[in-house]
Amino acid sequence: MKNKIDLNNIPNHVGIIMDGNGRWAEQRGKLRTFGHENSIQSVKDSIVGCKELGIPYMTLYVFSSENWNRPKKEIDSLMRLLHNNLKDSLEEIHNKNVKIIAIGEIEKFPVVIQKRLFLFIKKTENNTSMTLVLALSYGSREEIIRATKIIAKKVYMGNITLEDINFSFFQNHLYTKKIPDVDLIIRTSGEQRISNFLLWQSAYAELYFTNVLWPDFRKKDFFEAIINYQKRRRRFGKVI
Ligand code: IPE
Ligand code: IPE
Ligand code: MG
Repeated sequence: MKNKIDLNNIPNHVGIIMDGNGRWAEQRGKLRTFGHENSIQSVKDSIVGCKELGIPYMTLYVFSSENWNRPKKEIDSLMRLLHNNLKDSLEEIHNKNVKIIAIGEIEKFPVVIQKRLFLFIKKTENNTSMTLVLALSYGSREEIIRATKIIAKKVYMGNITLEDINFSFFQNHLYTKKIPDVDLIIRTSGEQRISNFLLWQSAYAELYFTNVLWPDFRKKDFFEAIINYQKRRRRFGKVI
């Protein structure tokens, strides 16, 4: 599979909407949380896939702004899982030389998770093999409103004028300010929608949908997505 990949045409930034955990569990007659618990290998495989291909940025949609509307029991178990994984995977991620950053309303998480996360970010901040962006309590509409408010305040305070607001200025007020636009978005589970993920940043992203449920997603599936991406002709509005 990997030998079909052109290493000269690798996306700079891949985003993954990791979907289908609940259905995966239900197919096995288990509670939805069983699916979440079985999603770790898929994350590991995606990281290794990125590293093998030299993809510098990957964003994982871990928990959306709207996911807070799920039943309390499911949220509690997701929080537990997140907390445990942040604890257990720190050494492994650090040894892989992966840098972790987070985007989203982190302050909405329990303090213990915030602390774990900041520890993770601090420990891995000088790592250089790739940047793994965790989208946590992330919603792109919220992100855009937040940026608008910050900018509006700067205008109101007289620190900038309306003319200062352009494409790159706006971009610099998003959570993703230091991260390049996403080139490829992969969504598992057969759903074909964006669900409030990287709306601004995906203006020219290629979209790839697979029926594979997230807990079944492996490196070969990741490579398949990259091979599919490499068949696309990205025109960016031009004639080429
Ligand atoms: C994705 O799987 C995980 C999160 C959104 C946290 P789901 O929990 O959405 O699983 P399905 O889509 O209901 O099968
Ligand atoms: C999107 O999946 C969010 C994450 C993968 C974290 P959802 O399962 O929440 O999205 P919808 O509700 O099917 O659109
Ligand atoms: Mg879902």
